[in-house]
Amino acid sequence: MNITIGQNNRVLSGMRPTGLLHLGHYHGVLKNWIELQHSYECFYFVADWHALTTHYENPAIIGESSRDMVIDWLATGVNPGNSTIFIQSRVPEHAELHTLLSMITPLGWLERVPSYKDQQEKLKDKDLATYGFLGYPLLQSADILIYKAGYVPVGEDQVAHVELTREVARRFNHFYGKEAGFEKKAETAIKKMGKKNAKLYKDVRKRYQEQGDGEALSIGKALLDSQQNISLSDRERLLGFLDGGGRIILPEPQSLLTVSSKMPGIDGQKMSKSYGNTIALRESPDELTKKIKTMPTDPARVRRTDPGNPEKCPVWSLHQVYTSDEIKDMLSDGCQTASIGCIDCKQYIIDAVREELKPIQARIKDYLNDLSGVDSIISEGCESARDVAQDTIEEVRKVMGLTSR
Ligand code: TRP
Ligand code: SF4
Repeated sequence: MNITIGQNNRVLSGMRPTGLLHLGHYHGVLKNWIELQHSYECFYFVADWHALTTHYENPAIIGESSRDMVIDWLATGVNPGNSTIFIQSRVPEHAELHTLLSMITPLGWLERVPSYKDQQEKLKDKDLATYGFLGYPLLQSADILIYKAGYVPVGEDQVAHVELTREVARRFNHFYGKEAGFEKKAETAIKKMGKKNAKLYKDVRKRYQEQGDGEALSIGKALLDSQQNISLSDRERLLGFLDGGGRIILPEPQSLLTVSSKMPGIDGQKMSKSYGNTIALRESPDELTKKIKTMPTDPARVRRTDPGNPEKCPVWSLHQVYTSDEIKDMLSDGCQTASIGCIDCKQYIIDAVREELKPIQARIKDYLNDLSGVDSIISEGCESARDVAQDTIEEVRKVMGLTSR
């Protein structure tokens, strides 16, 4: 991975509270979040302001889903011992940074974000010609930059938002990273690296700035990365001095692209609330059994004795997620020779989903019996998130000419 300086080990991601979580969220997002906890310092939040950008007419669902969403995160393995779990609207610094970033964000940058037009087309029943909807990718930028997150796990549809975030951060650093006496401070910092390294730094800086030598820039970054003796702010200065921009106050994040999950719904399309084809994490065993039993199959198998083709059957996409190759071979054979019935075939999925959800639902039940415990996890998360967010907003206020409190 291309680690650039100023990049920290922090991951940030959010999810909108707009209803019950389902298996698509689990396989597509949560498993990845849980995995990331092993290698990163993770911040995961309930994006309730984001939900309002599309659900402003009917906000009840947001309040109802926020705590339940956190419970489902916890029950699947998001661990408050490793990760900071919080609710966006309880860290108002996100909103302050959003306002401040809005001052420097050209309107065209927001109008050009693909999701702006796409979503307006897709959600035609909603009036999304609002100020909040246009600005929501910038709110997302504020979510990310307020924690100076290095990495943002997102699906493909959100990559453009991280790209916008990078551009906004660059513009911000360009305007406000030029502190008084920047050059002088940079010169002093260079000396702190020792003679040999100082010479190398000046050398590569010259090569980059005079000849556009990209390799020299990489050498310079690697050199700064390896310095133990200089402070973080000197490092930020020297990075800015190296590439000709200002000091890096808001580091540019990178997307961690989640390989798009092929989690199919009970109609074979991608599982999504808007298609009405979901199995909720809280679905009762009976209910999920019924949903799977009534799934459509290969239309050619009208009778039990008609041979079928698994490639034409939505149930088959679920076998790709849950069933071993060995059993799949057996089922595929049985389907094509009509030696098994669809109910037998579906039983494997029913068993697998029940098995998967059993421990999760047991933990959900425990958390539901201890709501005050859940609320403390959330409160503690909000508090630690605020600590970090306040440091950043202080710095931003200062460079934007606002007296600090
Ligand atoms: N916009 C994201 C979504 O709709 C949720 C989100 C909000 C987010 N802020 C974020 C994701 C910051 C990653 C980082 O799914
Ligand atoms: Fe689908 Fe299985 Fe029935 Fe074949 S046997 S049509 S794969 S449900």
